[in-house]
Amino acid sequence: MGYKDSPKRIGVLTSGGDAPGMNAAIRAVVRSGIYRGFQVFGIRRGYEGLLNGDLYEMNLRSVSDIMSRGGTILQTARSKVFNTPEGVKRAARMAEMFKLDAIVVIGGDGSFRGARDLSKEGVNVVCIPATIDNDIGSTDYTIGFDTALNTVKDAIDKIKDTAFSHERCSVVEVMGRGAGYIALNCAIADGAEACILPEKEFHIDTDIIQPIIGCRNRGKHHYIVIIAEGVGGTMEIAKQIEEITGISTKATILGHLQRGGSPTVKDRVAASLMAVKATEVLANNDGNKIIAMKNEQYIAIDIDEGINMKKYIDETMIETSKMLSL
Ligand code: F6P
Repeated sequence: MGYKDSPKRIGVLTSGGDAPGMNAAIRAVVRSGIYRGFQVFGIRRGYEGLLNGDLYEMNLRSVSDIMSRGGTILQTARSKVFNTPEGVKRAARMAEMFKLDAIVVIGGDGSFRGARDLSKEGVNVVCIPATIDNDIGSTDYTIGFDTALNTVKDAIDKIKDTAFSHERCSVVEVMGRGAGYIALNCAIADGAEACILPEKEFHIDTDIIQPIIGCRNRGKHHYIVIIAEGVGGTMEIAKQIEEITGISTKATILGHLQRGGSPTVKDRVAASLMAVKATEVLANNDGNKIIAMKNEQYIAIDIDEGINMKKYIDETMIETSKMLSL
């Protein structure tokens, strides 16, 4: 069968930083897409693969046994070439060459901006939010966030065991270049004495040293300080805490282990429901949408509108974290 005689043809790609649950989303795009009568093509390495025409037809069995795996079977990339107007045009041309009626983009805000640019070149796109940072304005939830929180929680629990034994302060850097959602949630979940977010200015005396000394005076003997990656200077902060307070202080940078691991139930279910919503949009001959979770409902938002939506750190959570670590 030639391209022209095909039923609706959709591509699916994962782009940007990987997130646990991306495989569950790929699986659900493929299975629900085929269920709806589409041909589904996996595009390897995100937009880089689209630029190179690196795609293959997927079938029901292409996505067997992948849901429990972290990462993405399609692999991912941050394409420099695609990030130019010429790159976007070339990618759109490739989508046309392969007669793709739509592309499902699974990724974060950078990937969504790429999808929006493709839509301006006539490619129909549907975006599924997946990033451990949960920093996409249009949706309450992004795939991978819950798994990352649990990974960080497990790591900090372990660090806390040794901080207790040695009566130390542990400074833990968690991911979040521009967003403090992982840091703040784990500060509450692990009872951190201080938590520093990229969204807020901070001063070491008032935001770290005073809370630690206050806690010491109220009878605490070990302390957890969480720093979001975007704040920077984690090692220096640890050094200063030790110098100023005299408390033995160790720093741990959790790094990319936060991006891996088998997705939690929450991430598998969110990924499956978002992906099914994405193919529903396409089955209705609609498109250029972002799939979002709002008040526990899955909805489709216009991509131009969704991309401009903002999300803010919840001040109540900041206050709660401080209050409960007294
Ligand atoms: O996926 C989001 C994120 O984890 C950020 O929090 C982090 O700053 C970034 O990705 C790092 O990604 P990479 O090292 O793959 O460029």
